[in-house]
Amino acid sequence: MRGLWLLLVWVGVSQAERVFTGDQVLRVNVQTEKHIHILKELETKEEWELDFWLHPVSMELPIDIHVPYSSLASVKEYLHQHDILFSVMINNLQELLDEEKAEMSENETRERGTRSFNFGAYHRLETIYSWMDTLVAQYPNLVTKQEIGRSYENRPMYVLKFSTGGNKRPAIWMDTGIHSREWVSQATGVWTANKIATDYGKDASLTSLLKTMDIYMLLLANPDGYAYTHSNDRMWRKTRSRNVGSTCRGVDPNRNWDAGFAGPGASRNPCSESYHGPSAHSEVEVKNVVNLIKSHGNFKSFISVHAYSQLLMYPYGYSCRNVPHMSELDAVGRAAVQKLTSLYGTRYRVGSICKVIYQASGGSIDWSYNLGIKYSYAFELRDTGRYGFILPANQIIPTATETWLALKHIMEYVRDHPY
Ligand SMILES: *[C@@H]1O[C@H](CO)[C@@H](O)[C@H](O)[C@H]1NC(C)=O
Ligand SMILES: [Zn+2]
Repeated sequence: MRGLWLLLVWVGVSQAERVFTGDQVLRVNVQTEKHIHILKELETKEEWELDFWLHPVSMELPIDIHVPYSSLASVKEYLHQHDILFSVMINNLQELLDEEKAEMSENETRERGTRSFNFGAYHRLETIYSWMDTLVAQYPNLVTKQEIGRSYENRPMYVLKFSTGGNKRPAIWMDTGIHSREWVSQATGVWTANKIATDYGKDASLTSLLKTMDIYMLLLANPDGYAYTHSNDRMWRKTRSRNVGSTCRGVDPNRNWDAGFAGPGASRNPCSESYHGPSAHSEVEVKNVVNLIKSHGNFKSFISVHAYSQLLMYPYGYSCRNVPHMSELDAVGRAAVQKLTSLYGTRYRVGSICKVIYQASGGSIDWSYNLGIKYSYAFELRDTGRYGFILPANQIIPTATETWLALKHIMEYVRDHPY
């Protein structure tokens, strides 16, 4: 009896959703190099359980810290003591999450009632997966769905392939949601897949592109993490794999690629949000993509979509050395961003990962570039920190629409510059 009771308690605890009541997100303004130093010190204080949404790097870049309610007083005191100014970006994280959840379930009910898919809403994994089948059924001559393997928790990983024929035509790769909490990324992927399907045959430029090239989209690059952000912890970023010798789970799937693996800008601590994992491609979600890209062998562009900060970046992350095609990648990136900005005035910065944010090793676009895929880019979508990872769903369509202009520019450039 007692055993059963304990078991029930254990099940209850293990399935409880993490709450963030009273947690705040602080935006820190640094004025000196010394401040950066002090904040790096703060990052090492594990007992405060801080989650740096944006890390301390340089005086030009903002720093956003998610602080649990229990450490708020100590952290604010620490900042005061060192004369570091900050403002409260999010006053009570749980309030935002409650709003998001309530809206989501309203929207789910409405969608079920009308049997329609709302591109301006966030969705669970199952809903996105079944929407993919709808898309394939609607556009059978253009879209197919392929399983590229299973995740750690045995979820299928699907790519949508847009193709008008041929055999291993030159192809463009796009993945969204490798970091599961960056929800606007996956939502933008869904919108974009639909856009490609509906514009084919209407938009002359896209139609000509699909005459000679294929597009592959992996909408949920980290399916276990994504499911977990809905069921247990909205702030989950990593995979869900078990780590030997640690109770902390997951590997940062964008530190796990075989490109400067385990170098600067990745952590060897399994509890860190940027843990690189035991070895390169240890994460099956990464390995599945590596296998597909390598066996295909004819990808010309590799685009990975994240949030947030409004950046368009090219390699490298693991080194601040310029890549051989730097000036071309920079020019294409700038032209793409100009198109993006033309729609609503959303401003982006362009540069190499290392120079625009910080040195970060084991990233996907460094790996793809070193494999010979010249046009390798990473986006960081909206916003610049007002909502960070909790971007309100009413910004999905504007975000996706402006991003499409940049994506299209890159794709057209790739089409017109075969190599
Ligand atoms: C729910 O749908 C409405 C109407 O499309 C949209 O404005 C809102 O942002 C959606 N919310 C979520 C959380 O998906
Ligand atoms: Zn990310």
